[in-house]
Amino acid sequence: MQYDVDFLVIGSGIAGLTFALKVAEHGQVAIITKKKAIETSTDYAQGGIASVFGHDDSLDLHIRDTLAAGNGLCRKDVVEMVVKSAPERIMELVDWGVPFTRQAEGGDEFDLGLEGGHSRNRIVHAGDFTGHVIEEVLLNRVRDHRNISLFENHIAVDLITYSTRMKRGSVTAAHEDFCCGAYVLDVETNKVDTYHGKITLLATGGAGKVYLYTSNPDVATGDGIAMAYRAGALVANLEFVQFHPTCLYHPEAKNFLISEAVRGEGGVLIDSRGRAFMEAYDPKKDLACRDVVARAIDNELKKSGDECVFLDITHKPPDFIKERFPNIYQKCLSFGIDMTKEPIPVVPAAHYMCGGVLVDTEGRTDLKRLYAAGETSCTGLHGANRLASNSLLEALVYADRAAKQALKDLHDLRTEICPELPSWNPMGTTDSDEAIVVSHNWDEIRRLMWNYVGIVRSNKRLLRARNRIDLIQKEIRQYYWDFTITSDLIELRNIAMVADLIIQSAMLRKESRGLHYNLQYPQKDDKFWLKDTILRRPFVG
Ligand code: FAD
Ligand code: SIN
Repeated sequence: MQYDVDFLVIGSGIAGLTFALKVAEHGQVAIITKKKAIETSTDYAQGGIASVFGHDDSLDLHIRDTLAAGNGLCRKDVVEMVVKSAPERIMELVDWGVPFTRQAEGGDEFDLGLEGGHSRNRIVHAGDFTGHVIEEVLLNRVRDHRNISLFENHIAVDLITYSTRMKRGSVTAAHEDFCCGAYVLDVETNKVDTYHGKITLLATGGAGKVYLYTSNPDVATGDGIAMAYRAGALVANLEFVQFHPTCLYHPEAKNFLISEAVRGEGGVLIDSRGRAFMEAYDPKKDLACRDVVARAIDNELKKSGDECVFLDITHKPPDFIKERFPNIYQKCLSFGIDMTKEPIPVVPAAHYMCGGVLVDTEGRTDLKRLYAAGETSCTGLHGANRLASNSLLEALVYADRAAKQALKDLHDLRTEICPELPSWNPMGTTDSDEAIVVSHNWDEIRRLMWNYVGIVRSNKRLLRARNRIDLIQKEIRQYYWDFTITSDLIELRNIAMVADLIIQSAMLRKESRGLHYNLQYPQKDDKFWLKDTILRRPFVG
């Protein structure tokens, strides 16, 4: 079956939903999302959105903090543009009904939180449920829109590209290809359908599930990055994987984040003997940038042999803690930890992918008619390390810009005849009775990435990871062509691809900068490495 729409949006987080709402007045939109629409990283975001609203703050300070966190690799024009756009984008969310927390009930002024690397309080939040309230408001608007169809439990398998090479019968550069949509597996019927979109937006989020320990939900398997790379688009800076310093350490707690805002409100990291250790690593102590804090914790754990460190905010009044962090308080309590009385056990975990599908300032990839926004993209805002709470902001700003640009492009495409798209061909595949192969490879990849391509890397560890991932990829490729596809197999193929790209990027960068730390090159090397790490799939003619 083939579906034809003007805009095909893959992903239902803040980036995909915002884009969809903005283009829907001008064309038909299909949103494809692989589980329930609410299952997104957006829904789990706690801290908030960074923007200048404080009386003691300025755009220049937000720009300066973002550039400092990014360690020389941010694009200054992008940082300036995003920071300047932030207040307007946040006020648009307010107009749409997002109830951000105010200083006084019924008052106008936002209650502004503080997080690592920020020199001023500038995090607009809704308690510690910020992402959830945004996602709900956006989803309600999307469900009510007559021009938007939402396809839950549909997973995009691959992008469909059309090659001008074929037309001309000659070999031309890959950038003359364009994207015409995607093959999508309906998880309930197990059928692959063809979705033709005049414009396609990748808004598939992050790739935390490539690592054994992560703050990310299960959907974060880097599908957008893998699909874009396979389709021939450029991907960049994938070695810069951000590890959040404080995820709850408890055998039954899966992926629960303890927001940096807890440290912003005075929380202190201590070791098992009760010693505060961040002073030894950075003058900003517990509010240093994430790369510094995560590496410090890693170092403390390696020195002590302990399994976790602790985050202590017991010096604050219990009522304040319960009111400011209702979500975190309740979650910890459900595991028997009362954060008003005892420190919270925490460890770092993979949290955010700073690299991704390379886009220009309007969200366009270098593959025509393919856009990307949100965590799956690489805009140049984050450089080598993202400043806290700049991610929801980036997604909002780029969804808005991509929508405006896509509307212009759609106008130009109106008269163009779309090529006939081939249907999915499952020929020669059979149902597999070897699900164990998928789960075994899945575990192996996530463990080897954690052990060899984690917070601290070395040439030897990277090489070992590279050798293993090569073999695993071969096995997956064989499996992929022999057996009927399932969502597990699609995700496995993608995490293996993204793991491979992270390793390749980390091997290329022969220095340490921001989130990439290699024991063999412990220093920054501005002479050779003040540049992005860009990869494109080799062209097979
Ligand atoms: P997501 O919100 O992750 O949405 C991705 C969507 O794509 C999902 O619907 C998924 O199902 C879908 N998808 C993926 N692959 C496919 C496929 N193959 N086919 C179909 N659908 C697919 N950032 C901040 O700025 N402030 C914060 O306070 C903050 N807190 C965070 C807390 C946590 C626990 C986490 C995990 C992240 C946090 N972040 C925060 C980061 C931020 O939430 C994310 O970067 C952001 O929400 C990403 O939005 P997105 O729209 O790009 O992707
Ligand atoms: C947090 O609340 O600590 C997460 C903020 C972010 O990832 O930007």
